[in-house]
Amino acid sequence: AKRVGVLTAGGDSPGLNAAIRGLGKAAIGRFGMELVGFRDGIRGLATNNTIELTASALSGILTAGGTILGTSRDKVQRMVVDGEVRDMIPAIGEVYARNNLDCLVMLGGGGTAKNAKRLADAGLNVIHLPKTIDKDVAQTDNTFGFSTALEIATEAIDRLHSTAHSHHRILLVELMGHRAGWLTLGAGIAGGADIILLPEIPYTVESVAATINARRDKGSNFSVVAVAEGARDVSDAAAVSAAQALVASAKTPEAKAAARAHLAHVIDGQREHTFKLARELEAATGLESRVTILGYVQRGGTPCAADRLLGSRIGAAAAWHIDQGDFGIMVASRGEGTAPVPLDKVAGFTNLVPVDHAWVQTARDLGTGLGD
Ligand code: F6P
Repeated sequence: AKRVGVLTAGGDSPGLNAAIRGLGKAAIGRFGMELVGFRDGIRGLATNNTIELTASALSGILTAGGTILGTSRDKVQRMVVDGEVRDMIPAIGEVYARNNLDCLVMLGGGGTAKNAKRLADAGLNVIHLPKTIDKDVAQTDNTFGFSTALEIATEAIDRLHSTAHSHHRILLVELMGHRAGWLTLGAGIAGGADIILLPEIPYTVESVAATINARRDKGSNFSVVAVAEGARDVSDAAAVSAAQALVASAKTPEAKAAARAHLAHVIDGQREHTFKLARELEAATGLESRVTILGYVQRGGTPCAADRLLGSRIGAAAAWHIDQGDFGIMVASRGEGTAPVPLDKVAGFTNLVPVDHAWVQTARDLGTGLGD
């Protein structure tokens, strides 16, 4: 029987267990394959920390949040072991051989796509399945986790409206999404936020304040502002772009490391950006402003139906690709079906919100302020 390894990497995301189950049920039940799980992402793969996944291990996990396998954010080529940074690709090659694997299925986001590509380049048969609440993986219509996070973030905005209008306040809610605005844009529209601030559209405080003041002049003396964690005002966004350009242009490994450290410092200095914006808006509008950081609630708990369906579809489709011997691919969601995409079209690319995207147009049509 073919032996299939599976791991989950990066941030946990609703629908991971549905995808593991979809893969496992199809691989074991339909194709008679064997499934072995690696615990805690790349770390378990590099250290051969395994768990045999039989059909019974897959039962009852469809509705569970998180990942039954555990996860971590390690990189295959730069993993910290005993305080030292090591290239674990050779060790992973040995683990792959020792477990007699015919294929390794890696469930994760953009970082996992890069890890998958590195392992494929090293000669392993790899398949990547796109999960993340950020919906920022290239070449796929959707990623499992996004729809659940969208529900949670929308409900949060719904509930914040009560306090905003009762207390005549500006309520800012910071939502996740890394450098992409999909979650904030989707939840902002679905939850009826008055202003939506995205990483892809740097804002000015003047513009945001003008939208709030215009609402007050029309009798609405409160506003709900959905702020993506990656959203920045024009000057902070310029500082990040300049630091990113330094990383891109660094020639030596030392220069690269220094430029990366500088970028991290710049980003760290902007950590409290939503609180800063709240203070600025209070000064510019005279309305009391409060911040809610939604945080990991957005990734937690039972997956919604859409994510169970997406995870199941993509997981089961992966088993067909293994059977066919299609490797070095991501199984993308395309319309109602799936499609294999070569990993070199995915790794290193990020799906940001295009500034002329239909959802952006919808927000503008609704009269939502985008801060620009
Ligand atoms: O990728 C999912 C995500 O929740 C992002 O939205 C966020 O930027 C990041 O993970 C947080 O990472 P961590 O789990 O390491 O705090």
